[in-house]
Amino acid sequence: MEPVKNPLDKLPPILKKNLNRNLCVCNEVQKMDIINAIANGATTIADVKKQTYATDGNGCCTRQVKRLIECIHAPERKKK
Ligand code: FES
Repeated sequence: MEPVKNPLDKLPPILKKNLNRNLCVCNEVQKMDIINAIANGATTIADVKKQTYATDGNGCCTRQVKRLIECIHAPERKKK
């Protein structure tokens, strides 16, 4: 899979905040590190967990990680 070049462009403004804060508080994983892992090919929660340890605490950040995956790997809308 090709890496996503500008993953931040794919996120709605509300998801672009606090990039240097820990999104996964349990394991102290910064949001930007999770975004980069997704852009570089992680397409599932399991991939993200393996690469960054995010969601590997009690899973409280799972929904947010899922949302990031959905946005970053959303299929491009094709023009007709
Ligand atoms: S904040 Fe990520 S598992 Fe709890």
